[in-house]
Amino acid sequence: MSKAADPERKSQFGQFFTPAGIAQFMAGLFIQKTKGNCHLLDAGAGIGSLSAAFLERWASGGFDFQRVEVDAFEIDHRLHPYLIQTLEKYRQYLNVVPIIRGDDFVHVAVDSLSGSLFAEALPRYTHAILNPPYKKIRSNSAHRSALRRVGIETVNLYSAFVALSISLLEDNGQLVAIVPRSFCNGPYYRPFREYVLKCAAIRQMHLFASRNKAFKDDDVLQENVIIMLERGAHQGNVTVTTSTDDNFTDMETHNYPFDRIVVPGDPEHFIHMPTSPKLGVIELSSAISCTLEDIGVKVSTGPVVDFRLKEHLRHMPDADTVPLLYPGHFKGRITDWPKPELNKPNAIRRNAETEKWFYPNGFYCVVRRFSSKEEKRRIVASVVKPDSFPNAKVLGFENHLNVFHKGKQGLSEALAHGLVTFLNTTAVDEYFRSFSGHTQVNATDLRLMKYPSRKNLITLGEWAMRCHEPIQTLIDEQLESLGA
Ligand SMILES: C[S@@+](CC[C@H](N)C(=O)[O-])C[C@H]1O[C@@H](n2cnc3c(N)ncnc32)[C@H](O)[C@@H]1O
Repeated sequence: MSKAADPERKSQFGQFFTPAGIAQFMAGLFIQKTKGNCHLLDAGAGIGSLSAAFLERWASGGFDFQRVEVDAFEIDHRLHPYLIQTLEKYRQYLNVVPIIRGDDFVHVAVDSLSGSLFAEALPRYTHAILNPPYKKIRSNSAHRSALRRVGIETVNLYSAFVALSISLLEDNGQLVAIVPRSFCNGPYYRPFREYVLKCAAIRQMHLFASRNKAFKDDDVLQENVIIMLERGAHQGNVTVTTSTDDNFTDMETHNYPFDRIVVPGDPEHFIHMPTSPKLGVIELSSAISCTLEDIGVKVSTGPVVDFRLKEHLRHMPDADTVPLLYPGHFKGRITDWPKPELNKPNAIRRNAETEKWFYPNGFYCVVRRFSSKEEKRRIVASVVKPDSFPNAKVLGFENHLNVFHKGKQGLSEALAHGLVTFLNTTAVDEYFRSFSGHTQVNATDLRLMKYPSRKNLITLGEWAMRCHEPIQTLIDEQLESLGA
């Protein structure tokens, strides 16, 4: 059926159907403790694969219920015949009452939660199982204002579905959802993270190590996680499991204290998914404990957004332009500018309209915001040196770069080299992967990391300036020599 969802409906409704192996794994995550009646919520039910896996578990003795009522919300009426067929067959041998709801889950849930006078009050659910639609919520949309009525501030339907489902659970009700990993550290998901952590305890998270395998039928290239939450419960240890793909044959299980999942005092509430109980170098080292503020450095996304300044872009520099820097201009230690073969502009006109986006020519540390999934490293840092642009007074950093600067001015040469060397260590890359499933590196991610002291960064930078082209093991050893 996965293939049956046509592309238009896929994008209109965020339709991706869960493969049977994953659905079964998800149903297996609920802790068996509820006896009596179960009220199951399947929000965005598709053809009913998740509810079916839940009912299969019950049928094979994995739950102790007397009766199960399933509320299956599915907005796409064309899927209803399949959904009915999936659920009705269980009536023959289970005490199950399937209710198919064709309304928009967001509006029905909000109306019920806000106690709208004419709205139907939904029940409090004991269980929720979901693979919610992935779709951005525009800031002026009906969904956004509806969600605000119940205090939910979020940017995507998937997080809206999870937040609403938590709100609809009874106390100690359990939720299992498969969602993109972006909520763990995406800057726009902070209110959602706060909401989840306030209302529920994270019991388990499962990470698919391979981004492109779990949903292979549907070409979904995101890293996906499965989360198991319990509403209103005390937050204890968290079980983190990993497997390469939906065969689960190489599954590893570890238990972590909650402070390894969300670092105490982290204002962003990043949700880490450690893959090994051993603490990494970055977490262990007392020598790596400074914030960027402590070392007097800021990091920003490159301020020049090329498509907004189209008429000022030039393929090659001339007397009226300044260098415009893209990730393609940096390779290892080499800055290659201007690069005629790059299919990006090399320069931008300097005038009253563009002036405010430039930084003075100087030493900077830049980190690519996007890497391709084939690339080994997620964090790739390079030094910008003023003598690579001999006649330039100012530089334009394009939006695909993150730039470390000092109040929009350059850094000292040794500090720029030190930051680049530190960011290019294996330890940093490993640490980054514990909280980000993206190939994308946000300025917020870099802002939140801990760094060596300014003095140690300068020592590291001076070492790097003396080396010709240090290889990875040398860079890693150098970090250790700082006491890390
Ligand atoms: C990612 S699919 C998952 C389907 C199914 N749960 C599964 O796991 O195979 C999400 C489903 O949500 C439905 N959907 C999208 N927006 C919805 C809304 N506002 N209310 C109810 N269902 C919605 C889509 O039509 C789609 O079938």
